[in-house]
Amino acid sequence: MTPAKKRILTGDRPTGRMHLGHYVGTMANRVRLQDDYECFFLVADLHMLTTRTELERLRLTNQNIRDVVLDNLSVGIDPERSVYFLQSLVPAISEMALIFGMLTTVPRLQRVPTLKEVMQDLEIEQPSFGLLGYPVLQAADILCVRANLVPVGKDQASHLEVTREIARRFNTMYGEVLPEPDTLIGDVPTLVGTDGQAKMSKSLDNAIYLTDDSKTVEQKVRGMYTDPNRIRADIPGRVEGNPVFIYHDAFNPNVEEVNDLKERYRQGKVGDVEVKRKLAAAINAFLDPIRERRARYEHNPRIVEEILSAGSARARQEAGDTLDRMKEAMGLKFI
Ligand code: TRP
Repeated sequence: MTPAKKRILTGDRPTGRMHLGHYVGTMANRVRLQDDYECFFLVADLHMLTTRTELERLRLTNQNIRDVVLDNLSVGIDPERSVYFLQSLVPAISEMALIFGMLTTVPRLQRVPTLKEVMQDLEIEQPSFGLLGYPVLQAADILCVRANLVPVGKDQASHLEVTREIARRFNTMYGEVLPEPDTLIGDVPTLVGTDGQAKMSKSLDNAIYLTDDSKTVEQKVRGMYTDPNRIRADIPGRVEGNPVFIYHDAFNPNVEEVNDLKERYRQGKVGDVEVKRKLAAAINAFLDPIRERRARYEHNPRIVEEILSAGSARARQEAGDTLDRMKEAMGLKFI
C-alpha cells in the first residue's frame, strides 16, 4: 500500500477579489502541490468578522465568497481533487478554537505583529476578543484536518507560529493528537504594488486583479512606478527594486527578452514605454488561461454552492473526528 499523502490546508477571507500578490504569495504553491498532497482549502468567513461586523458590509459576503472561490478555481485549483469548504459550515472548528483559547495566553496573542498592523490600518483602538483570537481560530482551521503543510503569504508566518505552539502544547499536555504543521511561503514573498509601495493590496489601490481585463492591465502597467530619476529614456536606469522589472521577473517567462530589457535599461537604451508594453503583454498572456478557466466555471451559476456544500460535508467529518480524538485525549468524553 502506498503511504497516505500528507495534507495541506490553507484559505482566504472573503473580503474581495484576489490579485497578483496573492498569486505569487500562496496560490501558485496551492496549484503546484495539488497532486502531491491531499488538499483542503477554506473560505474563512468567521475570520472576516474579526474586522467587519456592520450589516451593510456583511451583505457583500455571499458575493465575496463566490469571488474568492472562483478566483482559486480560475488559477487551477481542481475541485475534483481538493476539498473546498466554508468555515462557518464546520462548527467543530469553533469548538476547537474555544478549547485552544484555554491553551493560549493573552500576552502571547498581543505580541502577534499582524494584530498591531491591522489595528493601525483600520484605526481600531481596542481589539475585540475575537480579533485578538484570530490566530487561535486559524489554528483550529489548520489542525481540524490535521494538516502537515500550510502555504501562505509571508504576512501569515507569525500566525503559523501560534498554530505550532498550540499543537505542541496540546500534545505535551494530553498526548500526541495534532501534527505540527510546516509553513510554505511563495517564491515572491511579498509583491510590491504598482505604485512601488512595499505591498500589493486592495486598500492601497495598487493591485492588478486576476479578473482585470486586458485593457485594465495595460492601463495599470502604463501608470506603474519605475525609476523616478530616469526622466528621459537615454538616462541609465536602475533595475534592482524597480517594480516593472520585479513584475517582469515574476510574470514574463521570456527570460531572454527580460535580460535584454534590463541590459538596455541600465545603459539608457530603452524607453519606459517599451518596457511597460512588453510587461503588459506578458501579464495578459499569464492571465489569459486564468480568464478562460473562470469563464468556463462561471457557466454553471451554482458551481460555488455545489463545491462548498460537498466540501463542507467532508470537512465536517474530518473535523468531527479530530475533535473526538482531542476530547478522548483530554478525558472529556463522558458518553
Ligand atoms: N489569515 C489568512 C489570511 O488572511 C486566511 C486564513 C484563515 C488561513 N484561516 C487560514 C490561511 C488557515 C491559512 C490557514 O490570508
